[in-house]
Amino acid sequence: MNADLNDCVSRVRRHSDIVPGLALVLGSGLDSLVEAMAEVQAIPYVDLPGFPEPGVAGHRGELVLGRLQGLPVAILRGRSHFYERGRMDGMRRPLELIQALGCERLVLTNAAGSLDPDLGPGRLLLISDHIKLAAEGPLLGSTDSARFVNLVDAYDKSLRSGLRRAAEHERIALSEGIYMWFAGPNFETPAEIRAARFLGADAVGMSTVPEVILARCLGLRVAAISVITNLGAGMTDAALSHQQTLQVGRRAVADLRRVLCAFAEELNRAG
Ligand code: HPA
Repeated sequence: MNADLNDCVSRVRRHSDIVPGLALVLGSGLDSLVEAMAEVQAIPYVDLPGFPEPGVAGHRGELVLGRLQGLPVAILRGRSHFYERGRMDGMRRPLELIQALGCERLVLTNAAGSLDPDLGPGRLLLISDHIKLAAEGPLLGSTDSARFVNLVDAYDKSLRSGLRRAAEHERIALSEGIYMWFAGPNFETPAEIRAARFLGADAVGMSTVPEVILARCLGLRVAAISVITNLGAGMTDAALSHQQTLQVGRRAVADLRRVLCAFAEELNRAG
């Protein structure tokens, strides 16, 4: 283990001896899930060597350890995006730390634009696969043989069925579809949205994919859920804004929270 990662582990262990059964990355406006947790210990990213400095409104930078429905969990509250500093590997250290704490399961959340008029703002989408056509990637420059990571079934089948069961249990509609990554921070053009639909995407967004690639490279099992905050550019007359992303996020987060609580409860019961 490298020295900085070791240092992160010892800093965390001063606060908590939790071995998380689940780690979550909470995106823009989605971080109120932390309120559902018990035995909370929060460690600011600035105290953890190699962690990113989240810079977007609505993103707080802290690692939160505690219990969700009895299950030990680690929450990465706030993420780094490519559009902040042009780096795809900003979440490498947080993911390495999750693994070093003994956690094998990761659920990522994000806000996304929908390409399906029937999947409107406030709905949840379970990501089944992704499209990233950009040349950038979080493993560029890595010399490790693990960089040739297989992305077939990158979104873990059994985690996905667990999340579907949790949504059914809570009677919350959970669609399933493909997320296409755009660099941002500008929203897409209407022509890009049409192209994304043509390519088979169901939603677009500016996060998550780099983390999925890094997490799969580390061997973590991954699932991801999008909170739909808007229809893609040009699909309605509405102009897109980050403010809207945060507002709809806040409403839909109640559903997401119920799904994740039910999921944590099931994992806890399964032991
Ligand atoms: N495009 C990209 N990212 C997003 C969107 C969108 O329409 N909505 C929320 N995040």
